[in-house]
Amino acid sequence: MAAKIEKTLIEPLDAPLDGSTRVQGDKSISHRAVLFSAMAEGTSRVSGVLDSEDVRSTIEAIQELGATVALEKQLDGSLAGGITGWGKEGPQQPKGAINCGNSGTTARLLMGALAPWPITVKITGDASLCKRPMRRITAPLMKMGVHFDPAGAETLPITETGDDKLKAIVYDAPMSSAQLKTAVLLAGLGAKGTTTLNEPSPSRNHTELMLPEYGATTTAAERTASVKGPFTLQACEVQVPGDPSSAAFAALLKSGSSIQVEDVSLNTARIGFVRTLERMGADITISREGQAGKEPYGIISACYTPSLRGCEIPADKIPSIVDEVPVLSLVAAFAHGITVFRQVSGLRLKETDRIAAIMEGLGVLGVDSWMDGDDLFIEGQPDLLIPEGIELDAKKDHRMAMTWALAGLCGKTPITVTNFDSVKVDLPHFLESLARMTR
Ligand code: S3P
Repeated sequence: MAAKIEKTLIEPLDAPLDGSTRVQGDKSISHRAVLFSAMAEGTSRVSGVLDSEDVRSTIEAIQELGATVALEKQLDGSLAGGITGWGKEGPQQPKGAINCGNSGTTARLLMGALAPWPITVKITGDASLCKRPMRRITAPLMKMGVHFDPAGAETLPITETGDDKLKAIVYDAPMSSAQLKTAVLLAGLGAKGTTTLNEPSPSRNHTELMLPEYGATTTAAERTASVKGPFTLQACEVQVPGDPSSAAFAALLKSGSSIQVEDVSLNTARIGFVRTLERMGADITISREGQAGKEPYGIISACYTPSLRGCEIPADKIPSIVDEVPVLSLVAAFAHGITVFRQVSGLRLKETDRIAAIMEGLGVLGVDSWMDGDDLFIEGQPDLLIPEGIELDAKKDHRMAMTWALAGLCGKTPITVTNFDSVKVDLPHFLESLARMTR
């Protein structure tokens, strides 16, 4: 019997979004705070950690590897408390395979963290994660001395056996990926000497910014990052700022809205979407409030802007908007003229083929989009009226789920989003938190 397709009816918001709000903790920074604390000697204190299925995958993984987790749910929905790491003793041999669920970040970062330890760990995930590319991670780690079985496997499940005599390497990454960079740097903590990763264009730099909080010596420049080993991370305190991406988009698309999102990450490697929206003519501004560790945070203010224009996003800016391409595509659908995302075919390898999902959904909305080589083109229609009774498929991908939900929330007619449930791997209370922001 075919599995029942999950359908969620998204009704238009009954009023514009208004006022100040706080959003959930940033997912990338949450994964790192949890994992680095597990690797550290002593008890770290973490706060603002996002409580989502993906981050829970990392929490469960570190527990199976011997870290002690004492995190409690806070009134704002975040997790806070202590994590006692395995430190110098290293992780324990887990009883079974580590299942990373849907979380590519968990699987890839874990491979780096386990690299210096002579235990054998099977890493697996759900059906979607088991289709995603892993050789980009295993290839450099094998150069450092880690063993994988099967050695040339492209996908999970993969069994990793680390080595306590890892070689430091200088690695020229074939693609810009913060997950790849992090895996190599974490392995580098266990190697003697300096491990360096060069990348074609800058990917998010949370790892380079956070490792020094745990006492590690890292260097970071535009397209290169390095770490000095061997070094055992030392417990510290980490406060996770909010995820910058989702709420601002709702305000821009919902007529009459004006909001301030407080305490969000203003890391330049993450707010490429703000720069892109500014170029499209959006009424969006940022103001810095302070710094959590080395991570800048502050306020993003966004107001509904009726006359957005298409723009071209060059290839070297794609890593800074990699997770926001789906929702920027929706904005582009309502803008004057054509928007071009250069060199985005890497998005075909995310939780789903996001390029195919974007083009299919925009087609249902009545918007033309096409690929020319690796470039995505979208021809905006400022007067677009979303047809009644349509269904958009999130393809079990949380970014697609949020994107198509925004089309329904900000439009005039309800939209059915199929496979919306995947939103819980990232922001489980996405709909409720936007509804709370209406006047
Ligand atoms: C992430 C890096 C990005 C991003 C993912 C989270 C991270 O992936 O798409 O959602 O936390 O390091 P890539 O590093 O593969 O680009």
